[in-house]
Amino acid sequence: MNDMRELLDETVERAARFLDSLPERRVAAARTAQELVPALGGELPRKGLPAADILARLDEIGVQGVVASAGPRYFGFVTGGALPASLVASWLAAAWDQNAFSEVSSPVGAAVEQVAMRWVLEALDLPADAGAAFVTGATMANFTALAAARRAVLLAHGHDVDRQGLQGAPEIMVVVGEHAHATLFKALGMLGLGRDRVSRVPVDGQGRMRADALPDLEGPAIVCTQAGNVNSGALDPVGAVCDAVRSDDVWVHVDGAFGLWARASSRFGDLAAGVERADSWATDAHKWLNVPYDSGLAMVRDADALRGAMSVHADYLPDRIHRDPYEFTPETSRRMRGVEIWAAIASLGRDGIEELVEHNCLQARRFAAGLRDAGWEILADVVLNQVLVAFGDDRATADVIEGVQRDGTCWCGGTSWHGRTAMRISVSSWATTGNDVERSLAAILRVAEDVRARAGAQG
Ligand SMILES: Cc1ncc(COP(=O)(O)O)c(C=O)c1O
Repeated sequence: MNDMRELLDETVERAARFLDSLPERRVAAARTAQELVPALGGELPRKGLPAADILARLDEIGVQGVVASAGPRYFGFVTGGALPASLVASWLAAAWDQNAFSEVSSPVGAAVEQVAMRWVLEALDLPADAGAAFVTGATMANFTALAAARRAVLLAHGHDVDRQGLQGAPEIMVVVGEHAHATLFKALGMLGLGRDRVSRVPVDGQGRMRADALPDLEGPAIVCTQAGNVNSGALDPVGAVCDAVRSDDVWVHVDGAFGLWARASSRFGDLAAGVERADSWATDAHKWLNVPYDSGLAMVRDADALRGAMSVHADYLPDRIHRDPYEFTPETSRRMRGVEIWAAIASLGRDGIEELVEHNCLQARRFAAGLRDAGWEILADVVLNQVLVAFGDDRATADVIEGVQRDGTCWCGGTSWHGRTAMRISVSSWATTGNDVERSLAAILRVAEDVRARAGAQG
């Protein structure tokens, strides 16, 4: 046990050193994956190494490939840091090593999920009796919720898809917005609904599904809306989509990977008005709730539709006492995934979630104002925490993105917006201060000026 304690102390020491470095650390990784492979790999060892040596190797070699995305100036993809309470809860739960699939195998696992589920539904103002599954992220949350949708709309036509499969089932009309996230199509593909066999609804200039352009919704049908366009942050008019639904064999789903959290804010919540009328919702916790990877939630108004799609029976499995997590998730054996969500919400409270969301939204506005004042073009309205900016033509914008990543003060990625190359700034971390925004803005402007000067010198 002494060895174990020493190992844990050493881990704390190394982790603390890393966390201490975050505020000033260069954001991009120092080494590429391919550079790290030889140092971490080589031949399959015949004999194992002591755990302390493995820890040292991971820290000393592996850390060179760490992106400081847990730090305050990472604005890539949509990435939250890990709130202190959620990080330490995750560590303790790892030590407990619970198989949190059932109440019998882990009372604490089942309990934290019940509490976390209630808190999330309340914070997002969604129906308190909805069913929920704690999954790995929004991709699996979409998959899980859409499995419930597929079951329900086909059951309304007398077909039990979970027993009979899709063979012989009535065809399901699947409707998506033109700007639906790429992973939603993957979820549809995994469900046998097809990535391409969808009816695409045109979007407006901000990437919002146009409710006036919806096709006639003939059941069985599933309409996949989005709260939070990954580029612009725009939210589909979910309430208006729900208005177009006239029968109960049409299901409305919301992919709210990050935008659903707007509902926790009194200032920005109106953007997501009507979302509560949908049948199911997918969201991430590792994005705006700032819990460690990987963590997402599928929520379904009719808990039985979710349970029906996901539950399983085997003679050795325990009879349900109250709520067994495995009845709601694609996985059976699994870690105690709800614990970080429980800890994050316990540490933030309702006010803290609201503050986090509002801070990041205001920080995004500050980025946009600073860039616009310097003469650069903001390509979409800044409604939430996303900013899209162009620095002249596509070539110049790509050069700025590359230059910002190399500079290392902050990290922003690229995308394409209505056919133009854009830099994406996603402000999603609890750790980002006003000073981090100013430092990052100054670095971006410096790189952009360099790119402009070099182009001028060449041209
Ligand atoms: C709208 C939307 N849906 C789904 C996803 C996929 O999320 P994850 O990578 O957590 O599975 C994202 C990721 O950015 C997203 O923005």
